[in-house]
Amino acid sequence: MTQSTGASRIGVTGLAVMGANLARNIARRGVPIAVHNRTAARTKEFIEAHGDEGAFTAAESLEDFVAALETPRRIIVMVKAGPPVDGVISELTPLLDDGDIIIDAGNSHFRDTKRRTEECATHGLRFMGIGVSGGEEGALLGPSIMPGGDTHAYAEVEEILTSIAAVVDGTPCCVHVGPDGAGHYVKMVHNGIEYADIQLIAEAYDLLTHVAGLSAPAIATIFEEWNSGDLESFLIEITAKVLAKTDERSGGPLVDVILDQAGQKGTGTWTAIDALNLGVPLTGITEAVFARGLSSLRDERSAASTALAGPTPAGQADASFVDDIRQALYASKVVAYAQGFAQMRAASIAEGWDLDLGAMATIWRGGCIIRAQFLNRIRDAYVEHPDLDNLLMVPYFTEAVANAQDAWRRVVATATAQGVPIPAFASSLAYYDGYRRERGPANLIQGLRDYFGAHTYKRIDTAGSFHTRWGQDGTEVRTDI
Ligand code: 6PG
Repeated sequence: MTQSTGASRIGVTGLAVMGANLARNIARRGVPIAVHNRTAARTKEFIEAHGDEGAFTAAESLEDFVAALETPRRIIVMVKAGPPVDGVISELTPLLDDGDIIIDAGNSHFRDTKRRTEECATHGLRFMGIGVSGGEEGALLGPSIMPGGDTHAYAEVEEILTSIAAVVDGTPCCVHVGPDGAGHYVKMVHNGIEYADIQLIAEAYDLLTHVAGLSAPAIATIFEEWNSGDLESFLIEITAKVLAKTDERSGGPLVDVILDQAGQKGTGTWTAIDALNLGVPLTGITEAVFARGLSSLRDERSAASTALAGPTPAGQADASFVDDIRQALYASKVVAYAQGFAQMRAASIAEGWDLDLGAMATIWRGGCIIRAQFLNRIRDAYVEHPDLDNLLMVPYFTEAVANAQDAWRRVVATATAQGVPIPAFASSLAYYDGYRRERGPANLIQGLRDYFGAHTYKRIDTAGSFHTRWGQDGTEVRTDI
């Protein structure tokens, strides 16, 4: 326990770029703030560079940091997800009083957040896991914030968090998401959707390059145009900018000299694993994670590129194909969001979080990486139908996908015929076709499972579970009575 001077209303420990920018954002709103970093030199540098932006108290030690805060203390921890978060919590715990609030604003796994919430509670501390999206610029100028944790703890930080968040149509992009791990869960799915969005854009770029035969600057112009329609979003906007950039060394497009190997920090994989655990079909996001994995097999791909046969090259596509790609991109994007929202709904039920999915769409409209016009439509859908099973069933999206489906099918067929891999486009279409089938082929799967493992099956014409004595007399027996 430490004596407080109460000068600072909130503190940030961890002054790497995200923590530093969040601290600056808070200070710029006139909130007195204490800052701390494990290496004191970084705190010094921070104050030298930004000390004039607000009322900062720079602390060299955690003790001084804690002492600078009013009670209940509000401490934002912005360190690398994983063990470093536990390390900071265990160092802070003996210095804090009952009711103080530790806020983990990094990309932590929601199960860690649940565990930390319970562990902190045993010490009388309140723990919050908050998702923060928007990258470096968002943290400084207005991120989307997804706070999870106890409602009373949230009430203590709501004013500060809503004041630093992005604002769309007068509404801050920050709303209490739910208890314990809910905020980090929603941030995880946000990142998963970010993976799908980025993969779909990359597939569109690949098709525009290798099927339509266009150069990077020409494709940049196309994305710029697309950004004024249904696809309007931050990621489409920056795609145009990245494609238009000239490389200073080669004089050609920068994108042409960037290695085709995508990195990842893990949140996409977590999203996919959780979907598998929940039994939610999350094909778009999961294919996007796999595509990053495939991109990393550079040496294997290089060897395979001369060893494995592809189709005979076809002639260049005509101009109408460009618009087909736009429509396929939009329809696939709708599917990716429908899947991500279905996953949040399933998790909300499984965890008892009572997530308001319309509110999630609302706070993703600004500040975050997946901010997009069409989140307004998703918000409207959930406001009207809070218990919606699938976004595809809302008239706006049903119609949008129906209008795009011919183009979508042409794109998937052409890409497949020409050997251009489009895992996210194709799997989204397969999901769409699977979802709209009243009767699929799983009857045969059940038959096979029953044959080799006596797993039983249900019948369409009568209730109960049945098994056929395949290896004996071939008769059917009812197994549930
Ligand atoms: C954000 C981003 C941010 C980051 C992720 C994804 O919302 O601001 O999602 O959290 O970009 O870490 O990164 P990877 O692509 O490296 O997994």
